[in-house]
Amino acid sequence: MLRLAPLLFVWICAFGQPNAYDQPYRPQYHFSPRVDWTNDPNGLVYFDGEYHLFYQYNPFGDVWGHMSWGHAVSRDMMHWQELPVALPEENGIMIFTGSTVVDEGNTSGFCANGKPCLVAVYTGHTPGAAGRPALQTQNLAYSNDHGRTWTKYSGNPVLNLHLSDFRDPHVFWSNAARRWTMAVALPDDHKVLIYGSGNLKTWERLSEFGPAGATGGQWECPILMEIPLEGKPRQTRWVLKVGLNPGGLQGGSGEQYFVGRFDGARFANDNPPSATLWTDYGKDCYCALPFNGMPRGEAPVMIGWMNNWQYAAQVPTQPWRGQMTIPRRLHLKSTTEGLRLVQEPVDALQRLRGSHFAWHGDDMAELNRALAAVRWSSFELRSAVVPDGAGELGWRLLAGGGKSVTVGFGAGQLFVDRTHSGIADFSKDFPARTSAPLPKGRAPLEFTILVDRSTVEVFAQGGQVAMTNLVYPPAGAQALEFYSVGGKPRRIGVDVWELKP
Ligand code: FRU
Repeated sequence: MLRLAPLLFVWICAFGQPNAYDQPYRPQYHFSPRVDWTNDPNGLVYFDGEYHLFYQYNPFGDVWGHMSWGHAVSRDMMHWQELPVALPEENGIMIFTGSTVVDEGNTSGFCANGKPCLVAVYTGHTPGAAGRPALQTQNLAYSNDHGRTWTKYSGNPVLNLHLSDFRDPHVFWSNAARRWTMAVALPDDHKVLIYGSGNLKTWERLSEFGPAGATGGQWECPILMEIPLEGKPRQTRWVLKVGLNPGGLQGGSGEQYFVGRFDGARFANDNPPSATLWTDYGKDCYCALPFNGMPRGEAPVMIGWMNNWQYAAQVPTQPWRGQMTIPRRLHLKSTTEGLRLVQEPVDALQRLRGSHFAWHGDDMAELNRALAAVRWSSFELRSAVVPDGAGELGWRLLAGGGKSVTVGFGAGQLFVDRTHSGIADFSKDFPARTSAPLPKGRAPLEFTILVDRSTVEVFAQGGQVAMTNLVYPPAGAQALEFYSVGGKPRRIGVDVWELKP
């Protein structure tokens, strides 16, 4: 044993703690950090064949604090390699949410050897102290080695309004205006300010948007993005997405969006200011961010933090807390009510498919007998069904030990019920039944459900409705069952794939 000890030591150093990603609630195909706390995704950017995911990270514990940017890279948005912290808290200034751009033309002067470099734009947060309020300013850091090492700009901050709440810059290159554009939040005023810059260092204020829509809490994580219309990839419209905490649709944090036009300086809402549209109808999708620098012709892809500020610090996972949603491809769909955001899991997910269960027919009892063989805790389920008068129908997932999660349809609503899903008593706000009105007039009902041990993401009617919720089922709860109350559902079609870690 003594002779084996050094070998074991080398193995642990090389590969980390054995089974580091195999704890009971550890998502298998969603990103979560090996240890410690994460919240918002930050600085998502595609550069030279790599997707970069930065994220709000506390390197010293599993609750919020010492905010820094953690870092992971991937070639397919599915397999992530965690790298050392990219931007650490320093001199008492925490690194809050922000974005990363590829500076192709060295507009910033930060890029070396005539090559493009990465520039991060983030909020520096100095906590308040006796007699001094907190301060939030916008700052830069750059990297000339594909994000492996970073230098904070010596001229920071680049934008200072001397405010305690002024944060979360979303920066991108505007083709219309031929300059960098920043959307940044004034959280308590329910406003998004829009700035322009030729060099990322000096910023000119162009316009503001808000208040509008939901204003029940602070506005955070604004995103201004150009989204293609379904079936007409050359036509686009702009979406301004805003996080809200509290005051989200299902309580706590949630996100709304506005659809409109952006002329390079000003965002004009297509809808009346009172109209409120929600990006996700579950409790657990917040501060979603799209990738900058996506390869030409690729649809925008967004990742969110899968949690809610109501109980993020209490969720029963360790040694990590917090994970990201599946990357979601975006487009806008024309509906009778106007343009609506559509979200679908990226195609790369299909490459993780393993064992497959498929069934088509009308006999529910026969389906459930066949499903007895399906016992997975990380899977993708796609199904379509003609309800035919059924008052309610759907799926019971992660069932066992008297608990289950219900994903169902009833009274024109899609719902996810986690009130009896397992551990739910760590916060009074956790047990919940979240619901969403379903777009009318399309039978059969179609939906995709992604389950990953402790996460349930539902995409209904081709992605027009997304619903993201966390669950903490009992050990071994893996049974899957179709149910219906009243009526007789017909033409049930279901495909389930186990997804590989
Ligand atoms: C949103 C948020 C951001 C802020 C960050 C701090 O979840 O509050 O507004 O930049 O988290 O961690």
